[in-house]
Amino acid sequence: MEVDWIEAIYRIDSDMPLEKAARIIAMEESTGTWTEVRTTDRDLGFVTATVGDIDERARTASVIYPLDLFEPGNVPQLLSVVAGNLFGLEQIRKVRLEDVIMPHSYVRRFPGPRYGIEGMRHLVGSERRPHVGTIVKPKVGLTPAETAKVAFSAALGGVDLIKDDETLTDQAFCPMTERIPEVMEVLDKVWEETGRNVSYAVNVTAGPEEVAERADIASKWGANMLMIDVLTSGFTGLLELRRETSLPIHVHRAMHGAITRDPDHGISMKVISRLVRMLGGDQFHVGAITGKMDATAEEVLPLDRILTEKWHGLRPTFPVASGGLHPGCVADEVRHRGMDIIMQAGGGIHGHPAGTRRGAMAMRQAVEAVTQGRTLEEFAVEHEELRQALEKWGVGKKEEYYAE
Ligand code: 3PG
Ligand code: MG
Repeated sequence: MEVDWIEAIYRIDSDMPLEKAARIIAMEESTGTWTEVRTTDRDLGFVTATVGDIDERARTASVIYPLDLFEPGNVPQLLSVVAGNLFGLEQIRKVRLEDVIMPHSYVRRFPGPRYGIEGMRHLVGSERRPHVGTIVKPKVGLTPAETAKVAFSAALGGVDLIKDDETLTDQAFCPMTERIPEVMEVLDKVWEETGRNVSYAVNVTAGPEEVAERADIASKWGANMLMIDVLTSGFTGLLELRRETSLPIHVHRAMHGAITRDPDHGISMKVISRLVRMLGGDQFHVGAITGKMDATAEEVLPLDRILTEKWHGLRPTFPVASGGLHPGCVADEVRHRGMDIIMQAGGGIHGHPAGTRRGAMAMRQAVEAVTQGRTLEEFAVEHEELRQALEKWGVGKKEEYYAE
């Protein structure tokens, strides 16, 4: 049954009973304030939030916000309500927005991914295997020609996706309008030589107006994919990009840790993931179980589910595992997460003892091993590149990063 409210679930840490803390949030974020006011005699029940379910064990309470409180299609306004002043209220020590449940009538105003998982598989020509991506490294400092050289090796080695790093945009050392044609030229060459279509996600992160302008410039220069840092650019930046471009959109989550990492305060990655899918991200970084970024399987798997489950008719977003990954991580990630995953590695490809091309080959070999149901170790016996990668980084999560 279609409901006419949005339900937000909060984990609350305060000295008050949960119900009272939730009531304070409901008041603050809808019609109330800290003292009684009499500016109208009308009944404002249609925009008054109320307390929903309380779970004392999980320390969560839900707040039911009537739909009339929201302006359709306006995500900043949604966040000003469900994730607004409440985080700074003195009486509530810590509070974390765990999830937001929205009705179809609200979600359907948003476009969702243009391509989604099936669309990205169609572009690449893959059926049922994890995709392999790489981030050109070093993160910044390479010239357009150097970037293209790295991209060429990675593409020849077998990656499906090459992307800029989150801090590379349009700096003087690597202008976008020089970088794009150089990279696209080598990818065309790879297509001619191998028949493989490799995507290059150009980072157009900037304010909403510049995002649209850069998307336009990037496609004029031949880009076949775009990327955006959704949290630093803002959710409207992503929506603007989705409206402006017909290219697939890769979404990075730089800055998320400031918002999502504290289990008792901030906003869960679940909420961010829902919004990214709603606003049209085709691929989204949700972390890795075996990588350098802090995350466990219990945290990551629900995010994969949010991106891929049936949801208000929106196409699924391809989950991206990234951050400190290498070929030895592929089996563990895929065992937990299945085939609908993009395994992305920067250092774990370019740091291969035999260089980028062989690093990419090693990553593809690891993917091939898991799709055939074989162990990485046995596959490595017949595949030199994978053997060298496992010898350097081992199998599974590394004990330490940045230590070499
Ligand atoms: C990312 O943006 O996800 C990182 O650049 C990954 O790089 P790494 O694989 O070298 O950690
Ligand atoms: Mg990065």
